[in-house]
Amino acid sequence: MPSRRPRTFYARFRGRPSAHSPFDAYGRRLPDPAHNLHQTDAGAGLDDRVDQIAYMDTAAATPIGTAYKQHFAARLDLRAGHTVVDLGCGPGTDLGRLAAATPGGRVIGIDRDPRMLAEARRRHPTAEVHESDLHALPLPDAGADRARTDRVLQHVDDPARVLAEARRVLRPGGLLGLAEPDWDTLAVADEDLVTSRAFARFVAGRVRNAAIGRDLVRLCVAAGFEVRNVTPVPVLFRDFATADAILGLRRNADRAVAAGALAGPAAATWVARQERGPVVAGFTCYMVISAAGG
Ligand SMILES: C[S@@+](CC[C@H](N)C(=O)[O-])C[C@H]1O[C@@H](n2cnc3c(N)ncnc32)[C@H](O)[C@@H]1O
Repeated sequence: MPSRRPRTFYARFRGRPSAHSPFDAYGRRLPDPAHNLHQTDAGAGLDDRVDQIAYMDTAAATPIGTAYKQHFAARLDLRAGHTVVDLGCGPGTDLGRLAAATPGGRVIGIDRDPRMLAEARRRHPTAEVHESDLHALPLPDAGADRARTDRVLQHVDDPARVLAEARRVLRPGGLLGLAEPDWDTLAVADEDLVTSRAFARFVAGRVRNAAIGRDLVRLCVAAGFEVRNVTPVPVLFRDFATADAILGLRRNADRAVAAGALAGPAAATWVARQERGPVVAGFTCYMVISAAGG
């Protein structure tokens, strides 16, 4: 008797098997080849159609992006003279804000992407930026007063290792701020709930550590931090242009169709309805502030 392949999650509700589904027969996420990509955010990914720096600028310029970044900086209790490390600084999105809050101090941006660092240097010619992997920071022990990640741990190979490095470079009592999404909370309102759910699962499946937001507290405690504050940040988009730019409604629907995770006609109808609106699409980010133990 021929062996039968287990039917995948998508195949179960779409009625045909898919070799590219990110889920196995039990609904567990399979290793995704897309994880080998150097991704920006779930909505972007390494893709000719998306400029990563423009993507980050767009995200930072949305009302919610501006608001949470201000709130995040305030929560870090930055003071004059502080040494602050921006782990995964990207194109320097926050270096100016951090420098303004720490007069006479030192702001250090770290990223592994030379293109990001070139842009960070162009925007902040006096900034100190280093090309490095966050799993092995080129910084001495206990020399920093503050460290932060903003939508970075979601992409790294080993978040626990990065937090151990953050703990090493922070002085006892120094604060670590983390702001990371939980892509499993992504929800896009639509009358076709099956397609919306499949879209959300597909997007989450493209991010290495998609549920990192809810795990930050556990990871901080395990790394020897004392968690001081946990703030959920609801991110909601009400216009198609912004939702499409940040969540990639069209480009990720295309990818999902190509991967066999969405049926082409259903995806096209779904995208057309999103374009007409009304749009209600969002997810939750978690902001966690922790103190390095003595
Ligand atoms: C979504 S961007 C966020 C950039 C910036 N924090 C912001 O808010 O605009 C993620 C950044 O993390 C960097 N990154 C990801 N994994 C890294 C790693 N292992 N080591 C160093 N940088 C990393 C990427 O190059 C990228 O610039």
